[in-house]
Amino acid sequence: MHILHVVGARPNFMKAAPVYSALAARNVRQTLVHSGQHYDFNMSDVFFEQLGLPAPDINLQVGSGSHAQQTAQIISRFEAVVLEQKPDLVVVYGDVNSTVAAALVCAKLLVPVAHVEAGLRSFDRTMPEEINRLMTDQVSSWLFTPSPDGNENLKQEGVAPDKIHLVGNVMIDTLVRMLPQTAARIPSDLPARFALVTLHRPSNVDDIPWLSSMLQELSKISAELPVWFPVHPRTRERLQNAGLNGHAQALRLMDPLPYLDFLALQTRATAVITDSGGIQEETTYLGISCLTVRENTERPITATMGTNTLVGRRIERVRDEVQNILRGDTKKGSIPPLWDGHAAERIADILAGT
Ligand code: UD1
Repeated sequence: MHILHVVGARPNFMKAAPVYSALAARNVRQTLVHSGQHYDFNMSDVFFEQLGLPAPDINLQVGSGSHAQQTAQIISRFEAVVLEQKPDLVVVYGDVNSTVAAALVCAKLLVPVAHVEAGLRSFDRTMPEEINRLMTDQVSSWLFTPSPDGNENLKQEGVAPDKIHLVGNVMIDTLVRMLPQTAARIPSDLPARFALVTLHRPSNVDDIPWLSSMLQELSKISAELPVWFPVHPRTRERLQNAGLNGHAQALRLMDPLPYLDFLALQTRATAVITDSGGIQEETTYLGISCLTVRENTERPITATMGTNTLVGRRIERVRDEVQNILRGDTKKGSIPPLWDGHAAERIADILAGT
């Protein structure tokens, strides 16, 4: 059997690593394709290094562009790869443009697709990722869900139940494996209490008045709780173009961090303030308070079971929740079932047994 994996953007790499390794342990022939959606050293290469993923066999080198351009380039270049490689099945991860592009190519060529992290829904179709999730799930033959809500969503959309497999969370597999290495990655100047911030969603960083008010609030927070803020390239660009760097002077801005270094900061953070999907899950596993600056989440289990609080785009909620956390009034959570470090093995058992 020949399995081809497609990855493209930062959050894909930590999901693919455990699946690749579990299939390797079952002696499956594998080919790793990188779309090139993320191409900076600190958005891509460093993750391969730290996660022990082999260098991609093929890099489509599509780079940045509008959604249509980026998706179209991947579709066009990936089709040639599938025709040449003739995989028995293709595994795609998460909800980025590379995911949906690869899935569509396979659907047209009648190559079966396995979607890791299927079934998640924010029910917000203004999010590019929601469109990617819906489309990918519709054309996939194996839908591996991280939580029961994923199964429910897929059934509601008419997906045949025998295609749906609740396997748990592969991102947590990587976290569990890497956690022991984080102690050595704690910066010597890390404050005892601090807020860790990431913002990169268009809804937060493309709305300049909103971004400006968030930066002002974070600056106020930093008077009590130092703010460490690794800045995504998209956000860096917006800050520069809108002349907002002055608003961020009180904050500790830094380049995007490698996996281990960011995880190390999460383990010590007093609060995490983010619009990321994966960080909502990682903080839930770690029991760290997470404030999600979005109106909705495709990962509701992190709020119902975990430590995640949706604060929406309301500055006063951010302020109030940070005050609660500083007073020690934090949300207590528990770890969802099957977020146990073995999700990828369950996937590999199913795929290698086909
Ligand atoms: C993508 C995913 C998003 C995920 C995020 C994690 C989609 C639709 N979005 O968003 O779900 O949460 O990755 O990072 O696929 N850039 C660089 N260097 C890079 C990559 C990007 O400078 O290595 C800059 C470019 O200016 C680019 C911008 O970041 O235009 C956005 O990159 P893109 O891949 O389009 O989307 P992300 O915002 O990273």
